[in-house]
Amino acid sequence: MKNVLVTGGAGFIGSNFIRFLLETEQEIRITNLDALTYAGSLENLKDICTNERYKFIKGNICDFALCTQVIQDFDIDTVVHFAAESHVDRSIEGPAQFIETNITGTFTLLECVRSIWLNNRKHPLDDFRFHHISTDEVFGSLGINEASFHELTPYAPNSPYSASKAASDHLVRAYHKTYGLPVTISNASNNYGPFQFPEKLIPLVILNALEGKPIPVYGDGKQIRDWLYVTDHCIAIWKILNNGKIGETYNIGGNNQPTNLEIVTIICGLMDEYQPNHAPHDRLIQFVKDRPGHDRRYAMNIQKISHELGWTPRETLQSGLRKTIEWYLKHNQWLQTIRDQNDYQHWVIQNYGKRGVKK
Ligand code: NAD
Ligand code: TYD
Repeated sequence: MKNVLVTGGAGFIGSNFIRFLLETEQEIRITNLDALTYAGSLENLKDICTNERYKFIKGNICDFALCTQVIQDFDIDTVVHFAAESHVDRSIEGPAQFIETNITGTFTLLECVRSIWLNNRKHPLDDFRFHHISTDEVFGSLGINEASFHELTPYAPNSPYSASKAASDHLVRAYHKTYGLPVTISNASNNYGPFQFPEKLIPLVILNALEGKPIPVYGDGKQIRDWLYVTDHCIAIWKILNNGKIGETYNIGGNNQPTNLEIVTIICGLMDEYQPNHAPHDRLIQFVKDRPGHDRRYAMNIQKISHELGWTPRETLQSGLRKTIEWYLKHNQWLQTIRDQNDYQHWVIQNYGKRGVKK
């Protein structure tokens, strides 16, 4: 592995992965292909943009000619595919872009590597890898007493987002079975950590607490997510790239399954400690209109990656949340830029206006 193409590297997890790779591996060159949608920003990569082992290309993964050229020009042997539309609420408002990027975009990339890698006379196929980043949401929703998702749990996606990710997972798998393309897939649970766009639950709660604004909890707040610190996710991906078995999928989870109300309350408590201006912050919590088709519970069984690749998450929920809050409190300028750049206010009005949040 020498020349890695990261798609969606200007987003939350992709930018963390690029930073992780540049810091831990000295021999690898990275090309980042990103369309810079509302969710992507070069602000996320400001500190590394001059690194000579890193190159940014602005472009769309649905553009076959561009992707082909990038893979050829940079002699790409490994694709780590993060680029996607990633927010469930936005997929409910407007699913079309999710079909385009998540399904057609993944298909386009697979077609590019199929035409280039399968015809490469210099290197055997074993020298290449297409790693697809997916989500636990493809497995659907668990009842409270049901066993956690494992790699063979049948797919049952419930939102346009998870359905589009499920479709892309199936395409990746099919390209391995049909054409022998060397692929791996990972399905990860909800990530949190530095550089997450503040439309997702954890950064949204931190920011609203910081500003003394209402903290919106959908429905009864008893939904359960399996929270994974983003660096733990990056380490897991790296282990799969190095030692994962071709054609296999790996579940990645954080071993943390609080209810939304519990996690919001923990963040409020930490904010009381770090920034007491608006304390007690839990008085800001407001129960608002629920998300349609809201999945009740996700939980990941991580025995496979733990036994085969020796990976378990390093961060506990407490340690990961502390790191995250400290990062957001220190990066006010980043926040300002991200919110100005990406029409954040428009999304807040669109999503929360109709949910009945009281000022
Ligand atoms: P994100 O929304 O923060 O970033 C997505 C990035 O992809 C952005 O930089 C955006 O500009 C880029 N992008 C979007 N459409 C593109 C296109 N057509 N062409 C090129 N670039 C495009 O997402 P994230 O949270 O970093 O998630 C990354 C991946 O991880 C996604 O595939 C997502 O499904 C998966 N995932 C996310 C989570 C999570 O909790 N965030 C959990 C599990 C899996
Ligand atoms: P989110 O961060 O959007 O991730 P996902 O939908 O992919 O799990 O939401 C995490 C959980 O938090 C989910 O159950 C929805 C809930 N939620 C709220 O209660 N209030 C909010 O304002 C947001 C954005 C999410």
